[in-house]
Amino acid sequence: MMDGFTVAIDGPAAAGKGTVSRAVAAHFGFAHLDTGLLYRAVGAKVMEGMTPEEAAQTLVAQDLENALLRTNAVAEAASRAAAIPAVRAALVDFQRSFAMRAGGAVLDGRDIGTVICPDAQVKLFVTATPDVRARRRHAELVAKGHDVTLQEVLADVQARDARDSNRAEAPLKPAADAEEMDTSHMDIDAAVTRAIELVQARIQN
Ligand code: DC
Repeated sequence: MMDGFTVAIDGPAAAGKGTVSRAVAAHFGFAHLDTGLLYRAVGAKVMEGMTPEEAAQTLVAQDLENALLRTNAVAEAASRAAAIPAVRAALVDFQRSFAMRAGGAVLDGRDIGTVICPDAQVKLFVTATPDVRARRRHAELVAKGHDVTLQEVLADVQARDARDSNRAEAPLKPAADAEEMDTSHMDIDAAVTRAIELVQARIQN
């Protein structure tokens, strides 16, 4: 019954969209795709010496299991590769088929509501100030044993925001019909509750 029901969750790095997406997917039994992971896998292959285009065109499921995908260096390489139109084009079909799979799907990224799934039943744009996002990302990285300073993480977040927002192809921006949610002063439970309410309202209509 929920086949083709798509929830698009976009926003900048470390705004909380991953947590919200996973919680929404678990609550409704939808499948979840973190599309940033696709770009990170491309970035990792570029760091190993491939061209970005080749890396995107030859991407396989196993590439998503690379333990380094969560590092800042890979995020930076992902953001650079993501500005190349041929890289984005190579990843479109996979994302759209995922969105149409049986039982409903949540996709999170930068351009899901604007480009990948413009007809998604629910669109959310999750943001927070750069400072709040850098603090969250820094805490996550330190918890995983990475040796980085808050200043380094803030600089990375700002550089990535600028590149992701200013690129010509599928820039980071809210869809005209997206619900914006600023999580700077919201705890994650409140953000999850709001997202679940929005999805529930669309299921009932
Ligand atoms: O969500 P993330 O931090 O894992 O994403 C890593 C990079 O990939 C991000 O800086 C920009 C790019 N990206 C994108 O361009 N489009 C998406 N839908 C998802 C990620």
